[in-house]
Amino acid sequence: MITTTEEINIIDAAAAFIGEAYFELGKNEEEAKQRIEEISNEIARTGSYTHTYEELKHGAKMAWRNNNRCIGRLFWQTLEVFDARDTMDEAQAGDRIFQHMQYATNNGRIRPAITIFPASHTKHKLRIWNHQLVRYAGYQTEEGIVGDSSSLAFTKVCEELGWRGNGTRFDLLPLVIQMGEAPPKLFHLPKEAVLEVPLSHPDEVVFEQLELRWYAVPFISDMELEIGGISYAAAPFNGWYMGTEIGARNLSDTSRYNQLPIVAKLFGMNTSTNTSLWKDRALTELNVAVLHSFKKHGVSIVDHHTAAEQFLRFEKQEIEVGREVTGRWSWLIPPMSPATTGIWERSFDDTERSPAYRHQLPPYSLNNSLLK
Ligand code: ARG
Repeated sequence: MITTTEEINIIDAAAAFIGEAYFELGKNEEEAKQRIEEISNEIARTGSYTHTYEELKHGAKMAWRNNNRCIGRLFWQTLEVFDARDTMDEAQAGDRIFQHMQYATNNGRIRPAITIFPASHTKHKLRIWNHQLVRYAGYQTEEGIVGDSSSLAFTKVCEELGWRGNGTRFDLLPLVIQMGEAPPKLFHLPKEAVLEVPLSHPDEVVFEQLELRWYAVPFISDMELEIGGISYAAAPFNGWYMGTEIGARNLSDTSRYNQLPIVAKLFGMNTSTNTSLWKDRALTELNVAVLHSFKKHGVSIVDHHTAAEQFLRFEKQEIEVGREVTGRWSWLIPPMSPATTGIWERSFDDTERSPAYRHQLPPYSLNNSLLK
């Protein structure tokens, strides 16, 4: 029998994963050894192997725990893992995604979850073209960009596939799902699957006139999940928001919704000089509004001070069970008042561990011919 280098790589990755996961799951060495043997045989026969549900579930959780950029890792064990590896077509995938969205949204009491679609080496491999399952469209118009500038390219793709938005700042993009090498299919998000929060401010009523809003749940849908050498190119997952992601980035970055000058004017701040610190003050008011509005509508959210405390507890917890925490400092510090959190004075080893969530190239820039 011939064993290719690729097969050897998978066997090595599988053995490392099984060793670690089975130990954490309280299984004995004999069980791990037997399973590795079984996997090696399957790889020799078929070129790859299939995870048990238990392996899949624990692997997805480990990948969260290993994510150097995530401040919310304290909750890694609470991840709900939906096994959708039996998905046969795009419509079924859409249904599984909508079910996930409803489960996770839970009328605002957000539950972290992941849905895992067929592995990349299988016939029914899937790609979700969206960056997030819920995201606002972005349009280049003569008066400038309307909506979310980070969605410009993907919005065009949707339009080429026949979709038309209303042209507002907050148009929900459709789902674009591709199976194998087939042309992608487009699905509209059902109303029940999406929760949005209109923004208001606790002590400035006119804030509502800005008509700002954001969706309740961040569902990342374009990252690859790799467990023990097996790649899952479609494995959308969600947690809940940290307020600053919306208030100090999405709505305030000059290259995104750029709302700081507008908020500053609303509050009568002096925007003619940097020394009034109008940007910092507007940032604070906008972030107060985000946290207030999510709370008011019963939608889970965490402020950056609490999230930083939770991260440091996660680190302590990991050290106690004998694992070292890796991290990327520049991502872990919040974008607002970072030096007021305990993460500021720390440093982290940024080594990437497996299992992992990894970035992958967007399929639409790779293969535009699929659109024809
Ligand atoms: N930063 C991204 C956004 O603002 C979401 C990334 C994931 N965030 C999370 N809290 N799980 O949409």
